[in-house]
Parts: sequence; C-alpha cells; structure tokens
Amino acid sequence: MKKLENKVVFITGGASGLGRASAVAAAREGAQVVIADLLNSDYRAALDEVKAAGGEVLFVPLDVTNSASIQQAIATTVEKFGRLDVALNNAGIGEGFFSFLDTSEESFQRILNVNLTGVFTCMKYELTQFMKQGGGVIVNMSSLAGLRGAPGLSAYVASKHGVLGLTRVAAQEFARRNVRVNALCPYYIDTPLIKDAPEELRNQMISMSPMKRLGRADEVAKAFIYLASDDSSYTNGTQLVIDSGVIS
Ligand SMILES: NC(=O)c1ccc[n+]([C@@H]2O[C@H](COP(=O)([O-])OP(=O)(O)OC[C@H]3O[C@@H](n4cnc5c(N)ncnc54)[C@H](O)[C@@H]3O)[C@@H](O)[C@H]2O)c1
Repeated sequence: MKKLENKVVFITGGASGLGRASAVAAAREGAQVVIADLLNSDYRAALDEVKAAGGEVLFVPLDVTNSASIQQAIATTVEKFGRLDVALNNAGIGEGFFSFLDTSEESFQRILNVNLTGVFTCMKYELTQFMKQGGGVIVNMSSLAGLRGAPGLSAYVASKHGVLGLTRVAAQEFARRNVRVNALCPYYIDTPLIKDAPEELRNQMISMSPMKRLGRADEVAKAFIYLASDDSSYTNGTQLVIDSGVIS
C-alpha cells in the first residue's frame, strides 16, 4: 500500500534540492504532485524526474514573497486536482556567511521575506483551503539552524527559528480541525544551496557530523513522507531532526 495514494501534494521550491527529492518520493508513494517554484528555476528537469518516478505532476509558477502569487498557485492546484492534501513549505534561500555586524539590513529582510514571511503566507492560504475541504497536512522546512545558533547566519537562523514558531502555533490552533503541522530540521544536505560553500567550510560541515558525511536529499525526502502520511497521525507541532547526530 502506497503511503500517499491519490493525495495532492504541493511543494514550494519543488524544482531543486530537498523539494525536488520530496516531489519524487511523493510521486513514488502514489501522490499527484505540484511543483511550485520561481519561473526561472530548473523546473523542467524536476518535472521530468517526477514523471520518470511514475507520478502525475504539475508545475505552477510561485514566488513566496508575493501573496497574490501564492493564492494563484493554490487556486490552480485545486482547479487541476480538486483539493490540496499535503503542503511542503520548503522554498528557502541563504546568502552566505556574514558576521552579525556585517549582515546588511537588506539581506536580513530578503532572507526573512522568503524563509519566514513566505512560509507564513503559504500556510495562511493552505490552511484556508484545508478549512474548505475538511483538513490537510503541512510540513515546514526548518533546519538544524531552527534549533540552535550558527555563527555568520543570523538572518537564516532567525528565519528558521521563526518557522518552528509558526509550526507550533498552527498545530495548536488547528489540531481539532483534522490538520497536522510539523517541521523538518536537517543538518547540511548536499544540494545546490550549499554548492558554493568554500572547500574548507564544506570539510568543516563534514567533520562536525558524527557520521562524517553530509546528508542526501533523499534522506530528507523519506522523513517528509513520514510526516506527510498517516504513519505520523499522532505527531503534531513538532520537528524531525535529520542530522546524523550533530545535536545529540
Ligand atoms: N541544503 C541544506 O543543507 C539545508 C539544510 C537545512 C534546511 N534547508 C532548507 O531546505 C529548503 C530547500 O533547500 P535546498 O537545499 O533544497 O535549496 P535549493 O537552492 O536547492 O532549492 C531551493 C528552491 O527554492 C526556490 N525558491 C527560492 N526562492 C523562492 C521564492 N521566492 N519563491 C518560490 N521558490 C523559491 C528555488 O528556486 C529552489 O528551487 C530551504 O528552505 C533551506 O533553507 C536546506
């Protein structure tokens, strides 16, 4: 029995990295998948990969910093598939490592706009749709940086802590309305997001991992499937850490 048979799964930032791997995993589990991402993203390659996994897939253009774009993407999803069962709010950015004093206010705001306000606005309209149809599941992409500090990443860390806050509040507010809201907290995963990290930093990321390696996107996707499916039916308002033991 597939875990997401006939479920409509909407993935922001679904064209790359963790979003794309989650889209492929959802398709393998029987889902109808919506990849929602920027028009200039690598979405065609993602569509091909999901189709090859045997899934029905739709691309919708989305900029999570724009409320109208979010509302349109969800409306298009519902028009095409009739409902929205699972949302993975995964679109996110980083802008490199800057000491607190060297972090520009503009960069801070840009990161917060995508990583935190974007998640809030997506959740608002996903939950609105859930209320119309009688429930649904949200999985938010936080980070290990949502649970602890990381020098040089003030904006990113603040945004990912905020995502866990939104997760907890929505989980409590909607628990009696057939909605579950949880988050994923991965350590460094080998995706395009960290491809430009200098070799010294990359080696440091690896050496800080008890398994002495970075994570793979498919390892995060498996955790997504758990939180998205009925396997986690009593799990709400919490986070699943995927970090090889870094935080333990
Ligand atoms: N890779 C890691 O080490 C790691 C670790 C922990 C958490 N995360 C988080 O996982 C998520 C995905 O990261 P990734 O590593 O797959 O990165 P990625 O750069 O490979 O993918 C991010 C995707 O988000 C999309 N995106 C960016 N801005 C957007 C916007 N305004 N509207 C819509 N889509 C937008 C991009 O086009 C891209 O497809 C992010 O939220 C990131 O913070 C990543």
